[in-house]
Amino acid sequence: MALKLGDLVPDFTAESSHGPIHFHAYIEKSWAILFSHPADFTPVCTTELGSLAKLMPEFDNRGVRVLALSCNDAETHRSWVRDIESFTPGAKVTYPIIADPTREIAIKYGMLDPAEKDRAGVPLTARAVFVIGPCKTLKLSVLYPATTGRNFAEILRVLDSLQLTANYSVATPVDWKAGDKCMVVPSLSNEAALEKFPKGFETVAVPSGKSYIRLTPQPDL
Ligand code: BEZ
Repeated sequence: MALKLGDLVPDFTAESSHGPIHFHAYIEKSWAILFSHPADFTPVCTTELGSLAKLMPEFDNRGVRVLALSCNDAETHRSWVRDIESFTPGAKVTYPIIADPTREIAIKYGMLDPAEKDRAGVPLTARAVFVIGPCKTLKLSVLYPATTGRNFAEILRVLDSLQLTANYSVATPVDWKAGDKCMVVPSLSNEAALEKFPKGFETVAVPSGKSYIRLTPQPDL
């Protein structure tokens, strides 16, 4: 069954490009992000993992542990890393790539894409993104098909939004970027919002007369 938002993410022990990893112990009480990949030595994945390597300071600044997964063994991953670093100048792959040659983890996490098969007819893993909160519960999941590379700027934007919600009870509107106004979540009363947001909030007038659109400056700035 597919993982749902709020579920405790499955634990596993696996080999990786950095040696054995016990997933829950590895992520400790940090935010974490797990990216799955269809296979080693594939073109789109190679571009993604190079960009990810260069973006590691962004993930570190947000306190997010990064892991990738691909359904090959650890030795193949280590050899692929040399191609990834060569393809993206300046990239140094410092995050582990988990080995899942039997697809055991891919099945546990519901990452397999039945429409995309390897040359032997075996389903490949989709490009999944799992964001995991400090309590090891699923905060976000997105599945891209193997043929579409992910947009890491969007992934960082979503992480900022998730962390603001977790820390300050705000939501973020359409196309929000770090620094833009946030929105008070509907579950918070005006009284509670005034206590929580010392900078206050503005209520936008709408034809219904209802006061549900409440904007507040980004609380951590
Ligand atoms: C790729 O990473 O380029 C890829 C992998 C599987 C299917 C299609 C593309």
